[in-house]
Amino acid sequence: MMETPDTAGGTPPLLRVLDLVKYFDVSGGAFRRLLYGRRTVQAVDGVSFDVARGETLGLVGESGSGKSTTAKLIARLLPVMSGDVFLAGRDILKASTSDMKALRKDIQFVFQDPFSSLNPRMRTEMIIGRALTIHSGLHGDARRERVVQLLEQVGLSAQHLERYPHEFSGGQRQRIAVARALATEPSLILADEPVSSLDVSIQAQVLALLQELRTRLGLTMVFITHDLNVAEYVSDRIAVMYGGKIMEEGATDDVMQRPLHPYTKALLDTRPRIGHPGQLRPLEGEPAVPLNPGPGCRFASRCPLRIAECTVQAIPPVEKRRGHRVACIRA
Ligand SMILES: Nc1ncnc2c1ncn2[C@@H]1O[C@H](COP(=O)(O)OP(=O)(O)O)[C@@H](O)[C@H]1O
Ligand SMILES: [Mg+2]
Repeated sequence: MMETPDTAGGTPPLLRVLDLVKYFDVSGGAFRRLLYGRRTVQAVDGVSFDVARGETLGLVGESGSGKSTTAKLIARLLPVMSGDVFLAGRDILKASTSDMKALRKDIQFVFQDPFSSLNPRMRTEMIIGRALTIHSGLHGDARRERVVQLLEQVGLSAQHLERYPHEFSGGQRQRIAVARALATEPSLILADEPVSSLDVSIQAQVLALLQELRTRLGLTMVFITHDLNVAEYVSDRIAVMYGGKIMEEGATDDVMQRPLHPYTKALLDTRPRIGHPGQLRPLEGEPAVPLNPGPGCRFASRCPLRIAECTVQAIPPVEKRRGHRVACIRA
């Protein structure tokens, strides 16, 4: 019997991303354009996914695959070329400027490098407090009390209120960035490589904190990482991006244990595993920069399973198993 796609019943997903497209013109000046023609990077090319309330979606892929651009489009930090983003059923790309303030509160970013995302001239109380004043109108003692609460939620305390970013370790700074993100009680957190700049031991602590906050506060997250081990640890579902497109998406266990796409399989083969150093095999070829790409699959040039048809046309992700989509004619 045919399974019908999982569209029936229930509340809408907290986040629905539909066919997002963003190209960058990198032709350079008029002279370069004349010499080399128009050069377009198809950074995000038809990306769709849902994130249910309380769920964490891991968005995984090598550098340049379009992960950050996707997040910026969702938060409206970049204008889309086409596509839609729905938050709790509301089309946020069509939100008016007056709705934008509410939106800024509802979607919060945590960036890779907390040092550049925290104002070096502000004390912790001000960094977190400013968000509280803008979005909740809190001032004075009430505000300070709430800042302390937020600091405690991320494993810091009142003794850190007066300190400047440079007085903290990298891990502590990222805790402050998380506290600031939580200050507006957002419904969605976009975390873009939030632990990638930290030492491995500190990474584990910050990841554990995010997991704990998730359970306690029911956070919904899009967690961007190039590291499959990190994605596996934090995600309920994983979407694998390559060259601006989603290659595979499914429940974390399905993607990690029963990958369908040759790219996912290659990534899994190359990931360093404790106790298996001998199994580390580099993925052959360079990651595709989607610069004026042809109509074929973006991964075709590196794919061990490539057949002639792969370079002629690419297929969108289709459901192969329940809740497990793959964009590959060989899968
Ligand atoms: N503002 C920009 N101008 C031109 N190209 C860009 C810009 N932002 C991103 N790109 C290009 O788009 C592609 C995807 O980038 P990005 O979304 O940052 O990937 P990721 O976060 O997965 O590393 C890359 O080829 C990158 O060079
Ligand atoms: Mg990025």
